[in-house]
Amino acid sequence: MKQLFTISVFIMVLISCSNKQEQTSIANLDSKIENKISDLISEMTLEEKLAQISQVNSSYSYNAGEMKELVRKGIGSILNEVDPKAYNELQKIAMEESRMKIPIIFGRDVIHGFRTIFPIPLGQAASWDMEMIETGARIAATEARSQGVNWAFAPMLDIARDARWGRIAESAGEDPYLASLVAAATVKGFQGKLKDDKNSIAACAKHFIAYGAAEGGRDYNTTIVSDEQLRNTYLPPFRAAVNAGALTVMSAFNEINGIPASGNNFTLKQILRNELKFNGFVVSDWGSVTEMITHGYAADDREAAKIAINAGVDMEMASDAYRKNIQSLLETEEVTIESIDQAVRNILRVKFMLGLFDNPYLIPQEYPELLNKEFLEAAKDAAIKSTVLLKNDAQFLPFNNKFKVAVIGPLADAPHDQMGTWAFDGKKENSITPLSALREYLGAENVIYAPGLKNSRTSIEEGFPDALNAAVAANVVLFFGGEEAMLSGEAHSRGNIDLPGAQNRLIAELFKLGKPIVLVVMAGRPLTIGNQADMAKAVLYAWHPGTMGGPALVDLLWGKAIPSAKLPVTFPKAVGQIPIYYNHKNTGRPAPDNPTTLDVIEEGALQTSLGNTSYLLDYGKDPLYPFGFGLSYTNFEYKNMVLTSSEIGMTDTLTVITEITNTGMYDATEIVQLYIRDIAASVTRPVKELKDFKKVFIKKGETLKIEFKITSDLLSFYNIVGEKLVEKGICVLCWLLCMNGSRLRTVFFIIYAIGLFIRSLSLFEICKYAFLNSLFCINFTSISLLFPAISANFIIL
Ligand code: BGC
Repeated sequence: MKQLFTISVFIMVLISCSNKQEQTSIANLDSKIENKISDLISEMTLEEKLAQISQVNSSYSYNAGEMKELVRKGIGSILNEVDPKAYNELQKIAMEESRMKIPIIFGRDVIHGFRTIFPIPLGQAASWDMEMIETGARIAATEARSQGVNWAFAPMLDIARDARWGRIAESAGEDPYLASLVAAATVKGFQGKLKDDKNSIAACAKHFIAYGAAEGGRDYNTTIVSDEQLRNTYLPPFRAAVNAGALTVMSAFNEINGIPASGNNFTLKQILRNELKFNGFVVSDWGSVTEMITHGYAADDREAAKIAINAGVDMEMASDAYRKNIQSLLETEEVTIESIDQAVRNILRVKFMLGLFDNPYLIPQEYPELLNKEFLEAAKDAAIKSTVLLKNDAQFLPFNNKFKVAVIGPLADAPHDQMGTWAFDGKKENSITPLSALREYLGAENVIYAPGLKNSRTSIEEGFPDALNAAVAANVVLFFGGEEAMLSGEAHSRGNIDLPGAQNRLIAELFKLGKPIVLVVMAGRPLTIGNQADMAKAVLYAWHPGTMGGPALVDLLWGKAIPSAKLPVTFPKAVGQIPIYYNHKNTGRPAPDNPTTLDVIEEGALQTSLGNTSYLLDYGKDPLYPFGFGLSYTNFEYKNMVLTSSEIGMTDTLTVITEITNTGMYDATEIVQLYIRDIAASVTRPVKELKDFKKVFIKKGETLKIEFKITSDLLSFYNIVGEKLVEKGICVLCWLLCMNGSRLRTVFFIIYAIGLFIRSLSLFEICKYAFLNSLFCINFTSISLLFPAISANFIIL
């Protein structure tokens, strides 16, 4: 019988100490600030309090006169006002003409850059490079602040497992661990040293919570998520953001198990305030307070206001249910003045922490130029580090000399689209497209440009003949395909995630010519590109790479940069496989490695002839490309994996050591990934969980020793009653995910299965777990091999 042990008191103390260290001062309330806030609150009228807890949209919704009047009356926040002059003018009115002299906080969707546009967040997550992500956020913050924005509605931390959902573009993908690191890095980048830092802007962890679980990938849709899933899958990135000091959180549009997120006591109070100890303020998503009426949860805007404020939504975005109804709700005692004061307090605290009381005005001369050289270099670096090499037949890439290329495809020269979704303040005239970067690098005489298609969606094929002629005249076809920016992002979900329009037909025609094709995809989501990848010699997945996409891709194609990115999300073969994600549960009947497919089932076969396991007859069980996958131009060989012990106690740290040799031709960076699997637990655990990774640069011919530390906290999870535990007596398998080092044309996992135990394993048990492990080994090509070997304390499969 399995024994359950909640983490010992000692561990709890350790964990809470380390959490405290991570947290910025937001958790440790500053009594001086709290006293100042109390003084302000004691002076404020109800009207001023209600203005303070409201956010209005800029000049799009109000004319200049109306806006100034709102500011005089003490409006708390304005969104989408991006103009240094207007900022100073309105802030001056707030500081000099409003009675309470409380500065305004100006919010904006600064999602992946401000004027210098970085790759979309999903692309940045593919870099697995937290330093780069933090730098990107810092640059975005500096540029945004220089234009009068002091609050970014980012990072978006919704775990996204459905490529149909347009907002997957804004996410860090499907993994709670990777997304948590991205959350912390982004918050740090935006917020810097807060009030002591003129480049800081407040971060907003959004959308709380489970918005990414939208049924069918349709935006805003219903989510049904168990508490266990909520805590183990959807919550970790928010926890990381709060621990990194995120000043604000946005409540989401969706309902969760019947209760809208913007009126949800359980998620906002119990989880966010009580468990995560969040002390910043919660802003509703746009109109999500009054949308509770449409959800069928509130009868009218009065009830919506009551539900939202009582659930802990401190600031109402865009709608005005608070300003219209709270006075009457106070009169009927459906809302207490204490809740209003608490909301005001949370908002004022953030304004103090951001330094707005001390330095309300913007001094534009204090800021570096937008799009300066350093920022553009960083954006190029980010685009390089985010681009995933998905295929490279016979080391077709990189090119090492200059020759004639045919540049084809709708994204080759699409300066607006390469910026991707939510690039409000980016300007297409600042984008360097692949076409212009190629002309610059190869000389115009070596570039034959014939896009073939006017845009990514069109079915009009009149450009085909020119494109085919260009291909005939060139040595290599560079096909830049994908999706326009507006095919992903909010409210832009798709039911078919193939390359849209006539792109597949064009690729098929080009393929018939026999010219080698390199497929470069720019998109806001994983696309089902299996057939097109088959026709290409090499595939680079650049997501929407931002302002510097063109130069970054030229560097990658010609080997001035070596790809290192790994997928932060699983690529399905077909839409029908969705949801498909690496950290799924095993089921009672997992499919074998190569399950029988449709084409080979014999006519008249018996009902049970396939063995009754979990997969699709037409697409099998494996994705097109799995989470964590990405090739390099060099080869990495992993060997000599050892554990410092075959047991781990509650307070132990176990070290996993492995050696990696760069056996290829290029100095390059590898992302070494450590996964575990808890074989039997009181609530079923995923078949694989990323627990750590190291991004390491290895010179050709060099061998590096890599160490991972495993602690019992790393093995902990939440059970169905919301307790965090480590279970005793459970075997955990752990392994590294390796791209095949020695054969670039192939991809397979070598799985190192290690019994990692709170108790020792007998040889019998080791063999049993080795066997189990082979059941979830994913093979990508028929040449994937399993090599059983047993040594003192590990098994290589
Ligand atoms: C989006 C948010 C965004 C807000 C303000 C909403 O439609 O869901 O992510 O921050 O608008 O623009």
